[in-house]
Amino acid sequence: MGSSATLLVLLFVLGNGVAVTMGRFLRTEVEVIEEDLDEELFLMKKSKLVANTSVGKIRVFYDSRVPERRLQTAITTMEPRSLLTPHLVAATQVMYVRSGEAKLGYIYKNNQRLTQMRLREGDVYQIPAGSAFYIANEESDQKLEIISGIEPSQGLRDDVFEITEDPPRSYNLNKRKPDFENKYGWRVAVDGSQYHPLKSSGIGIYHEYLSAGSMMAPRVNPMATEYGIVVNGSGRVQVLFPNGSNAMDTNITKGDVFFIPSNFPYCEIAHKGESLELLGFTTSAQRNRPVVLVGARSVVRTMEGPELATSFGVSKEEIKHLVSAQHESVILPTP
Ligand SMILES: *[C@@H]1O[C@H](CO)[C@@H](O)[C@H](O)[C@H]1NC(C)=O
Ligand SMILES: *[C@@H]1O[C@H](CO)[C@@H](O)[C@H](O)[C@H]1NC(C)=O
Ligand SMILES: *[C@@H]1O[C@H](CO)[C@@H](O)[C@H](O)[C@H]1NC(C)=O
Ligand SMILES: *[C@@H]1O[C@H](CO)[C@@H](O)[C@H](O)[C@H]1NC(C)=O
Repeated sequence: MGSSATLLVLLFVLGNGVAVTMGRFLRTEVEVIEEDLDEELFLMKKSKLVANTSVGKIRVFYDSRVPERRLQTAITTMEPRSLLTPHLVAATQVMYVRSGEAKLGYIYKNNQRLTQMRLREGDVYQIPAGSAFYIANEESDQKLEIISGIEPSQGLRDDVFEITEDPPRSYNLNKRKPDFENKYGWRVAVDGSQYHPLKSSGIGIYHEYLSAGSMMAPRVNPMATEYGIVVNGSGRVQVLFPNGSNAMDTNITKGDVFFIPSNFPYCEIAHKGESLELLGFTTSAQRNRPVVLVGARSVVRTMEGPELATSFGVSKEEIKHLVSAQHESVILPTP
């Protein structure tokens, strides 16, 4: 874990009348899990449980093998009526509320005042580097789950910092119309061009759903590293080296985290009997349009299509069908 990403945390049961005071920093034991690391090249298998109490936990995933801009991802779960005490995170953090409702409080740098807001399911919010913040789950019957992308090394770009008097509002990803959608699934992505606070961190966020047996067309990210967290269901992710040979083909299931370096072709496939839902981050909040390798928007038509198809386990006939199937170009049924 990057030295700058100091997480000093503790989760408390939120009792009646607990006063939230900023500046109480506490440390818990850190446990490192390192499993067979060489097997699955792009699975993030290293994680730290930075907090683990009866009312909540925070697990941070990281991987020093990521060749480019490294992000950590974190999954925070909090039981009803619990409090994540105020703590300071040196890194920028982009949070997504997967389920439940959160009360977030932090000191907004530009006016040095405590900002408090309610985050609901689907909300995205960026906490700037160096902010002290707390999170409370005040609900009496609902768990809170937050998924975060964390930038441990500060690649902050001062030129895009917007000096505003008031802290930005949250952005609801769930309410946004998918960038594309068909009967096999959908995908929605948000970057700094749609939600301005993300410009300063250069972190983008996406949410994707594949129905049982469907596949996201093989593609490459020319500019960004992509991180994926399986939030529901199970499936497969296949990654090729830029030279086209197989780099990883592995089953993924709820809780798994993987990364795809730029220029590595890849695709995700939902298992036959189960859907696959991913939430993830990209390291470029500039418009990073994945280049689709199969389908109507294909570059395959002019490139080495059949070989690529073979390495993704799709027959030449199927590729022909996909290439001619104009409207199912991004999410496809598997043979
Ligand atoms: C986390 O805490 C729970 C008790 O709250 C304990 O049972 C569990 O073993 C702990 N997990 C780890 C990995 O330390
Ligand atoms: C492709 O690149 C990978 C990683 O650099 C290498 O291990 C593999 O041998 C290469 N395959 C071919 C066919 O050149
Ligand atoms: C991957 O999942 C499929 C479908 O559930 C299963 O048939 C296969 O054995 C799994 N492969 C591995 C290596 O676990
Ligand atoms: C998770 O996926 C299963 C099917 O694979 C579905 O039945 C269930 O409703 C999903 N859960 C959520 C929270 O979306």
